[in-house]
Amino acid sequence: MSLFDAFRLDGKRACVTGGSRGLGLAMARGLAEAGADLVLIGRDPTALGEARGQLQALGRRVEVVAADVGERLASEDAAIQVVEESSPIDILINNVGGRRIDVPTESLPTDQWQRIIDLNLTSAFIWSKVVGGSMLTRGWGRVINVASMSGLIANRGITGRSYETAKAALISFTRALAADWAPRGVTVNAIAPGYFATEPNRRWFQERPELRDSVLSMIPMGRLGQPEELAPLAVYLASAASAYMTGATLVIDGGYTLW
Ligand SMILES: NC(=O)c1ccc[n+]([C@@H]2O[C@H](COP(=O)([O-])OP(=O)(O)OC[C@H]3O[C@@H](n4cnc5c(N)ncnc54)[C@H](OP(=O)(O)O)[C@@H]3O)[C@@H](O)[C@H]2O)c1
Repeated sequence: MSLFDAFRLDGKRACVTGGSRGLGLAMARGLAEAGADLVLIGRDPTALGEARGQLQALGRRVEVVAADVGERLASEDAAIQVVEESSPIDILINNVGGRRIDVPTESLPTDQWQRIIDLNLTSAFIWSKVVGGSMLTRGWGRVINVASMSGLIANRGITGRSYETAKAALISFTRALAADWAPRGVTVNAIAPGYFATEPNRRWFQERPELRDSVLSMIPMGRLGQPEELAPLAVYLASAASAYMTGATLVIDGGYTLW
């Protein structure tokens, strides 16, 4: 196999939670360009339909499932449905997450804390258990968890520490599960993005322009990441190219965590 052939995903099927927009769609597009068919999960059927149209235009088969991955029961039902109706899934990207609430810990309602933990952490547990678990019998699979640099540091200028906590736990889950599944042919790795130009950040920066200026001043490269800049890393982790990598957390942040 040549070097670049190791990055090809022809004949593989990937499931991307939150694959209809933002970083999830950018990674899904990268996997599709590398040859993979897709199953996309999101809540809004219109956004899912638009994403399906874009990826089908690349010549791939694309299925969509509308489900709220942040609700435990609905999430587990949807994961079971994907295994029953779309198997085999070779690659799982646990991308759903975010929705940081800028409330200091001393005032943070416990149910808001729990919602962020469920959205960012419990969802990854459920989809890893059900969809990742289905890879074990075939002895090959790739699980990629979208954590955040916020799992490694405390963000300045924004509170809502349930987000840092959930992403740090997701990194720890990645390492522990990687150890369990390494002898069974399924690798588990995490991506830790810094600030990328997706809709939630655009909204934050519109609402609080001073936050945008301060964030840009903290990024050595002086700019936000573009969603498509995440795709090559997702393809690497999804493909045979990353055969000997498991339990890793790869930071991609324009240097934010260097200072
Ligand atoms: N953007 C960044 O700077 C950045 C930095 C570090 C880490 N991250 C992480 O990267 C991931 C993606 O972030 P993003 O910025 O790309 O977000 P985004 O632009 O808001 O996209 C989120 C995607 O997930 C879907 N989604 C959201 N909540 C869902 C739910 N409860 N159930 C099912 N689907 C849901 C959305 O579709 P629907 O709304 O239609 O459901 C959409 O497809 C998150 O885990 C985030 O924490 C992002």
